[in-house]
Amino acid sequence: MPKLIKKLAVLTSGGDSPGMNAAIRSVVRTCAYHNIKCIGFYRGYEGLIEGDFKEMDARSVRGIINKGGTILKSARSKEFRTKEGRKKAHEHLVKNDVDGLVVIGGDGSFTGALIFNQEFGFPVMGIPGTIDNDIFGTSNTLGFDTALNTVVDAIDKIRDTASSHNRLFFIEVMGRDAGHIALNTGVAGGAEEILIPEEDLGMDRLVDSLNRSRKSGKTSSIVVVAEGDKIGKNIFELKDYVDQNMEGYDVRVSVLGHMQRGGPPSCFDRVLASRMGVKAVESLLEGKTNFMVGLLNSKMELTPLDKAIKGKTKINLELLRVSDIMST
Ligand code: F6P
Repeated sequence: MPKLIKKLAVLTSGGDSPGMNAAIRSVVRTCAYHNIKCIGFYRGYEGLIEGDFKEMDARSVRGIINKGGTILKSARSKEFRTKEGRKKAHEHLVKNDVDGLVVIGGDGSFTGALIFNQEFGFPVMGIPGTIDNDIFGTSNTLGFDTALNTVVDAIDKIRDTASSHNRLFFIEVMGRDAGHIALNTGVAGGAEEILIPEEDLGMDRLVDSLNRSRKSGKTSSIVVVAEGDKIGKNIFELKDYVDQNMEGYDVRVSVLGHMQRGGPPSCFDRVLASRMGVKAVESLLEGKTNFMVGLLNSKMELTPLDKAIKGKTKINLELLRVSDIMST
């Protein structure tokens, strides 16, 4: 028989993403619905180590479903990577009679949760919150959809000025190790080329492709580049190479940066966050531990944390082909 759960804790960890607040709200309200207590730790695992938390009831999460960022704040904790740090965290949970922990974050946060469970047998459940969409076991991570809309809006605006000046723009989007943001926004923003870490186009093929676009009558071009793309050392090196090897194009770079992580969550992310929070709490109440909740084939499913961390998310090859055809 699983231990009867009377109190849960929730925290947000790693890079923030739009929809984290909606997920906190869902966790807290699902606890209230099932008559169990809930506390929220501040600054991810940092707050867990310091015992920095607040009691949360259904009313304490009012007015946050539409807010970006996270009311619980977030951090990437170095101390939680040490056994000593995790021991302190465990002591605070035990001292405050917490029976399970919901971690909203990315793969680094889940790795911490898994080690914590292995060391102390403490029940943990993950909710994937990152704009990068690089977690196995869910078609969408929280914040991905919102970030896509933010980026597409920026690309549309850059295209206006690119076409007014007959310019070529390299636009860098986030995605340290994954090209999901670049691929989707490149297609939606009508980019001529999309550079992602999963595919190495090579500098010369890039220049050939841009030359072909020019010859076919295009007067301006957009190239969307994922932050983690390996074709150049960085986007500025790419610009220099194209500047030196292509005639007649005025080349500019725009790095979108952290604005991609902010802003009100989209309808999709709010609904996803609400569903994930319910599934996470109810799974812990059923005695499940070491899972991540995710969206698979439109349903809420559980994936073991170790698989979610180690499993490779695949780039959508069909989308890559669509992008090639659309840039004809
Ligand atoms: O993990 C999400 C992410 O947005 C990555 O795409 C990006 O490389 C990183 O966070 C940036 O993190 P920081 O906030 O530490 O600069």
